[in-house]
Amino acid sequence: MSNDSTSFNRRTMLKSLTAGAIYSLATSTSVQAKTPVSQPELPSLPEGVSANSLAMNESFWVKVALFYDTAQGIVNLEHGYWGKMSRPVQEKFIENTRMVNTNLSYYARKHYADDHAISTNTVAKALGVNNEELVLTRNATESIHNLIRQYNALGPDDAVLYTDIDYPSFKDTMQWLAVSRNLDAVEVVLPAQASQKQILDLYIEAFDKHPNLKLMLLTHVSNQHGLVLPVAKISAIAKRRGIDIICDCAQSWGLLDFKITDLNVDWAGFNLHKWIGSPLGVGALYMRNGTLAKVSPYPGESDPDNIKASTRVHTATINFASILTIPAAIEFHQRIGGANKEARLRYLRSLWVSKAQKMPHIEVLGAIDEESSTGMGAFRLAGKTTLQDANDLQKRLEYEFGVFTVVRVGLSSGCCIRVTPQVFTSVSDIHQLVIALKNLA
Ligand SMILES: Cc1ncc(COP(=O)(O)O)c(C=O)c1O
Repeated sequence: MSNDSTSFNRRTMLKSLTAGAIYSLATSTSVQAKTPVSQPELPSLPEGVSANSLAMNESFWVKVALFYDTAQGIVNLEHGYWGKMSRPVQEKFIENTRMVNTNLSYYARKHYADDHAISTNTVAKALGVNNEELVLTRNATESIHNLIRQYNALGPDDAVLYTDIDYPSFKDTMQWLAVSRNLDAVEVVLPAQASQKQILDLYIEAFDKHPNLKLMLLTHVSNQHGLVLPVAKISAIAKRRGIDIICDCAQSWGLLDFKITDLNVDWAGFNLHKWIGSPLGVGALYMRNGTLAKVSPYPGESDPDNIKASTRVHTATINFASILTIPAAIEFHQRIGGANKEARLRYLRSLWVSKAQKMPHIEVLGAIDEESSTGMGAFRLAGKTTLQDANDLQKRLEYEFGVFTVVRVGLSSGCCIRVTPQVFTSVSDIHQLVIALKNLA
């Protein structure tokens, strides 16, 4: 909170608000959000129970689900786009929105900087990095685009690398970088079903084949099928060969439980509005101390000593309330427990994947070993790889079976349907998908 010497602070502002008015900002579709709700207690985490055992404890997860507004009419298995805020986080966001909207520039100019620093420090602590290594952004795209665009260490004979499973816009930006510097762009193609070892071997093969590689995009969890890449192992080998890495953690933080040091990368982009459950419009950029020289400041910013990661981004006016709500989102995420969330989501994927793998008309994509899997998964009808095929399948799932999913593109093996549960997804929702899969034959 602010150290400002004036008696006026954010807490005073909040007190001046009428509690009832806070709820008037709720969306018209959410009745629960319009009415003050008495919060149930989060279930206490049973002692001595592993995350994998807790993952199968339906009564625990039913209680967790009570903290989220429920949508009716469709089984939504498309939670990879962004994450639903839990109700306590949503209420904090509404409260912050109202406070900012009431006090406007007086708050923003006098007190926001201190609150912004608190949010930055909270994210840095949760990711296990130093405060000055972390910059809040509007989304992972802003973080990663800036890293790619502002990378300044390419020589005339260097090449850049990306993979078919990378996020489409980032592949495009890597291609743009190569074209604009007249360099080669190498694309590694991963198999439609892959293990950690296969992935690592393919990267090593590409490094051997292209000794002039200088920069690579490396995705922690793929947007198409939730495949986990062995980032730390790839990174160790890349670093020995002088290849710089921009790591895309847009989809991974919160879906997986980890600290940045686990990844062994110098630069990474994150989202908080996916699996950390913050309001929309919150991402982060990590740049390890001592590595800033190869990424220029944002045009017009100055950092002659290359010590200020904050100069690599220029976000200008942002949604202050979203940033203010970060500590509440991280607190809720940590109360459920990152490892528990990861295990529950993986378990939900295993429920449908184990059945789908026995259906000859379904091709399950992505992980073939546990370490490569997350709660996110994907499939297609066997042999049906075109965009039209995937669009038709998405429609059938939605209109014939009441299951909402999304089409993903970009894999060399073709288009697919992505399936992403959330912590409030029930086992019966997954069963509805399994029934649909059976009936697609
Ligand atoms: C792997 C991956 N990278 C990047 C992004 C972009 O995230 P955002 O639009 O929040 O910047 C996504 C979004 O789904 C993603 O899955």
